[in-house]
Amino acid sequence: MLEADKVFAGSIPENYDRHMVPLIFEPYAADLSARAAAFSPGAVLETAAGTGVVTRALASKLSSDARYVVTDLNQPMLDFAASRQGPDSRITWRQADALKLPFDDGAFDLVCCQFGAMFFPDRPAAYREAKRVLKPGGHFLFSVWDRIEENILADDVTNALARIYPHDPPRFLARTPHGYHDKALIHRDLEVAGFSDVTIDTRAEQSRASSPRIPAVAYCQGTVLRSEIEARDPGGLEAATDYAAAAIAERHGHGAVAAKIQAHIIVAIA
Ligand SMILES: C[S@@+](CC[C@H](N)C(=O)[O-])C[C@H]1O[C@@H](n2cnc3c(N)ncnc32)[C@H](O)[C@@H]1O
Repeated sequence: MLEADKVFAGSIPENYDRHMVPLIFEPYAADLSARAAAFSPGAVLETAAGTGVVTRALASKLSSDARYVVTDLNQPMLDFAASRQGPDSRITWRQADALKLPFDDGAFDLVCCQFGAMFFPDRPAAYREAKRVLKPGGHFLFSVWDRIEENILADDVTNALARIYPHDPPRFLARTPHGYHDKALIHRDLEVAGFSDVTIDTRAEQSRASSPRIPAVAYCQGTVLRSEIEARDPGGLEAATDYAAAAIAERHGHGAVAAKIQAHIIVAIA
């Protein structure tokens, strides 16, 4: 992962929430929030909460006296999340690095994190922090994307951009969001951090959009891929997006698009 891969700021929060969230994050947020609520936690910490897709799904499922602390490294993502959430006295918004959590030992029953671990520069360190702030027996519930070849539209866009920039292809999607899918490595990182009881469930969903242009805009303009395209060609974002849309249309047709996405959902007990 490059340093720039974890900077979700500028126009990214709004574009991420508008385009990426409905395309690939909502189905997994519904699943993760149901799994989280099934533990009936009294005190919940969410890390790398982004624009709050899990927060919106989970808050309504928690008990009226629950405490829900929602964090992200990037304040602009958290500001966007807070602006989309109705008033809720159970929720505290706080900027925090998952590798250095500003919370006491044993403060939470559940730590949850959807599609954040791929961005952590030292995963065992982040997992040690999750374990430290959990009560003994508490649950660490998180998800990561499977390899890019199992996530069809992300792969299509990456391959299309490689044809435009053959000498320096923008590899953000393959490198970072889809760069941490090895289940044996995830197990090992959790064990190094002190978790012993680990289960990993691989779950496929469908990513759906009403036209090929929607996923092209989502990936090219709502992720760090945008900065990678602009770095190669400052005025080239629209042309690159059009090219990616044409590549998706060629493979999936010009109408509504549906394609496989796949992720690992992990539960570890502290
Ligand atoms: C792909 S987004 C996922 C956001 C959200 N959980 C979702 O499902 O839409 C990754 C998030 O990780 C955050 N992030 C990156 N590095 C982080 C760190 N060290 N600690 C906490 N959050 C981090 C980013 O700011 C971004 O919001």
